Amino acid sequence: MNQEIRTRTKWFMEDRFGMFIHWGLYAIPASGEWVMSERRMTVEEYEAYFRAFDPVDYDPKAWARLAREAGMKYMVLTAKHHDGFCLFDSAFTDYKATNTKAGRDLVREFTDACRAEGLKVGLYFSLIDWHHPDFPKYKDRQHPMRDCEKYRDEKIDFDRYLDYMHGQVKELVTGYGKLDLLWFDFSYDDMAGEKWRATELIDMVRSHQPDVIIDNRLEGAGDNFGSILSANPLPYSGDFASPEQIIPPEGIRDELGEPVPWELCATMNNHWGYCNFDYLYKSPGLIIRKLVECVSKGGNMILNVGPDARGRIPKESVRILKEIGEWMDKNGESIYENTICPLPKPEWGRYTKKGDVIYAHVMDAPLGALPLYGIAPETVERVTYVADGSEVNRQRGWNTAQYPDISFVSFGEDSVFTYPLPDERDTVLKIECKKREGRKPCL
Ligand code: GLC
Repeated sequence: MNQEIRTRTKWFMEDRFGMFIHWGLYAIPASGEWVMSERRMTVEEYEAYFRAFDPVDYDPKAWARLAREAGMKYMVLTAKHHDGFCLFDSAFTDYKATNTKAGRDLVREFTDACRAEGLKVGLYFSLIDWHHPDFPKYKDRQHPMRDCEKYRDEKIDFDRYLDYMHGQVKELVTGYGKLDLLWFDFSYDDMAGEKWRATELIDMVRSHQPDVIIDNRLEGAGDNFGSILSANPLPYSGDFASPEQIIPPEGIRDELGEPVPWELCATMNNHWGYCNFDYLYKSPGLIIRKLVECVSKGGNMILNVGPDARGRIPKESVRILKEIGEWMDKNGESIYENTICPLPKPEWGRYTKKGDVIYAHVMDAPLGALPLYGIAPETVERVTYVADGSEVNRQRGWNTAQYPDISFVSFGEDSVFTYPLPDERDTVLKIECKKREGRKPCL
């Protein structure tokens, strides 16, 4: 991976936690953003939602505040999803928010709101477009009309689609101020790379937004990371890999063994777009632990919300985000700017590392004292709870005598007793080590 990518992604890899927002016409059928494809709906059928769209409660300021309070540092909104409907005022189509009951450019209000809350701004843009007449239909892998004989011999002008698509991307990168992130989605089969005229697209984007971070889906998707893992990434390899709904078992490295920036994208329930029957939400504790897992493997997490047809983030998501925020408020220093710790994963949780400080994320209460694997007692200066700054008991019980090379801590007064974790979701200990001649502290 090249130095340019490393420099460009610095803020991103420090910020670690973002909000993904999947929102569009599909909030009305409320079965996720693939409904047009799944139900094989024609453009005419789906356009009923265009006529009905009336997001009276759209309040991106409230979304941005919620994200900031959850400890998120950046937001990415679906400016256009696969259904082709634009939340922004594109000059190339009538199929846009300005022509719905909303009557205005919803992307502009979003970008303004993010910046007002001090958050980095990102836009998602679908390479796929099920509304455009020049997008391949028959036998395409996922087009709503893939089985429709009517399109078997249809003549399309794919270049006309590409001009349209490039034109819209240009509108986004020139019309909305500085964008921090662009999330293209996605490539499949031969619909990848230069099929999208990807080099030309990237050159255009970079000429307007030299520092914008771009995902890897002009070349790949969740199932294929593309040339970003090679020693010489292609110009459109993107700046980070985008594993979807799975945390890479061992992080992500390129073929030279160098860590590659990556971002897990994950839903809160099991849908991206609003789904009014999906109550299978992940608990705040689970999400916190998975965020820690991402960071300990050198990655980010972008967590999704799917606002409803009125523009509201579902109340279950709000509740979860507030609880995550309560934890982040106390423990954020063990997430931001943290990365892979060279010590092996401890069996009770995970280590993350920021500079010379090691954070122990304890997720499983010990019986008796907790061994800080890999950390020798004589190297430790202090161990404190991140949540309140107080000291952690480091007294050694008589029963640790057999393990002189390992530091122990305990969560109560008596180092032989067993105590519950102060925070069952993840109790974070800050381990500061003595500076020693020619050695990294603790290690
Ligand atoms: C997938 C889906 C899409 C979703 C994206 C988010 O590629 O096609 O609906 O927006 O993942 O990562």
